[in-house]
Amino acid sequence: MSITLENTSILQRLRSETHASHDALEQNEFNQALTAGHISAEATRRFLAKLYGFLQPYEAQLSLHTFPAAWEVAHRRRAHLILEDLQPTSELPLCPDMPPLRTWPQVLGAMYVLEGSTLGGQVITRQLAKAGIATRTYFTGYGERTGPMWKSFCQLLTEAANEANQAEIVQSAILTFQKLHAWIDQP
Ligand code: HEM
Repeated sequence: MSITLENTSILQRLRSETHASHDALEQNEFNQALTAGHISAEATRRFLAKLYGFLQPYEAQLSLHTFPAAWEVAHRRRAHLILEDLQPTSELPLCPDMPPLRTWPQVLGAMYVLEGSTLGGQVITRQLAKAGIATRTYFTGYGERTGPMWKSFCQLLTEAANEANQAEIVQSAILTFQKLHAWIDQP
């Protein structure tokens, strides 16, 4: 039996089709400095502010959709953690070019990207701790619940995906990575 895209699991497809985007995003200035061991508190603040500019409008769009309780959407809101880290004295700039989050498959694809970023957050928070940088509330995220929250999201996503919506979910995940990347790289 030949394996077609239709019977490949949604998670496998997302992972393989966004792999290059993830790698590209990992090359951002903040992560390069972090990996090279010369990260500064100021660069961390700049990166957090960028992430806020994307997460805030994303979460606002998410709140226009109705989710069954199992999705724990209120709990998955994290933009406010960045405000705790930054305590900004003025409004932070918001990304003007967000991926469309109108349809359910579009929402699922974007959620895959933003929920998946909590996994990288665990790596980042350890590196920041080593560097003595205290603004780690956002990157710590769900803390010890990171693994279970990701597992539960993957389960719900798998149940929500079907042959008819798979392509749109994957397309939205790719677009979300691209828009996030463009926003992060914008000076
Ligand atoms: C905001 C930028 C980022 C986004 C949106 C993002 C997104 C994702 C996504 C969607 C996944 C899930 C992949 C899967 O299907 O298993 C993932 C996993 C992961 N990411 Fe990132 N990521 C980001 C930045 C980073 C950075 C900077 C690092 C490195 C410090 C990193 C390290 C990881 C790791 C270690 C995993 C888990 C891989 C595995 O268990 O197989 N990520 N990320």
